[in-house]
Amino acid sequence: MDQDKKPSVLFVYYSFTRQTHRVVEAMAGALRDRNVEVTVAQIEFTDRRYAHRFDKFPMPDPYLDVFKMIPATLRRATGSIRIPDGTTEREYDLVCIGSPTWWMSMSVPVRSFLESDAAARVLAGKPFAIAVLCRRYWRHNFNSVKRLATKRGGLFKGGIHFVYQGGQVRSMLSLLSYFGSGEYRSRYLGVKIKPTNLREFQLEDARAFANELASQLFVTAS
Ligand SMILES: Cc1cc2nc3c(=O)[nH]c(=O)nc-3n(C[C@H](O)[C@H](O)[C@H](O)COP(=O)(O)O)c2cc1C
Repeated sequence: MDQDKKPSVLFVYYSFTRQTHRVVEAMAGALRDRNVEVTVAQIEFTDRRYAHRFDKFPMPDPYLDVFKMIPATLRRATGSIRIPDGTTEREYDLVCIGSPTWWMSMSVPVRSFLESDAAARVLAGKPFAIAVLCRRYWRHNFNSVKRLATKRGGLFKGGIHFVYQGGQVRSMLSLLSYFGSGEYRSRYLGVKIKPTNLREFQLEDARAFANELASQLFVTAS
């Protein structure tokens, strides 16, 4: 890295309910505070076979919309996506990939990015980090992103994951209730539930992780 130049970081991520977006904002803020040049590229899922399921929030039918993504996710399908113009046409010193879990694994839009020529271009020979967001199941998604980004030439530098409150059943009820209402309800289908999604302390963890990466990789103001 050229010591006189500001270090540069690309965040590339998909986010439906904005939880990955919140983590990216927290990490990007921490890096900007250290005089790092940050570029943010949110993946837009444009594939007409699936995109209509994610164009409304709250979801009109969360069960159907979420369950109907099982086949495409499990067979590792890719689809059409859009990323902001120019964001992958240059080099970065670090690429951070924000990856929400879908059906235990990588979401179709994140896989579509990692399989693209654009991903090969920005990852070749470059350090990358991963942030996984999920209700409970982070590991398979995390390892799949790590494997695929490494295959595209990236050099793994670290990762973080965020899980939500509640056990197996209650966390699922909380999430489905939220997907269908956009609200944090205290009961759903007669069962007491806790709020789903990220909590404030997890955003602090995201900032700390970004600071760790910066200290490991760059010489910056801390
Ligand atoms: C289609 C779909 C499938 C999901 N499958 C899982 C899953 O198998 N395991 C899990 O822990 N979370 C699962 N989730 C929950 C998401 O990982 C979680 O809601 C996360 O906040 C999504 O990130 P986002 O808000 O940035 O879109 C699923 C969500 C969606 C929309």
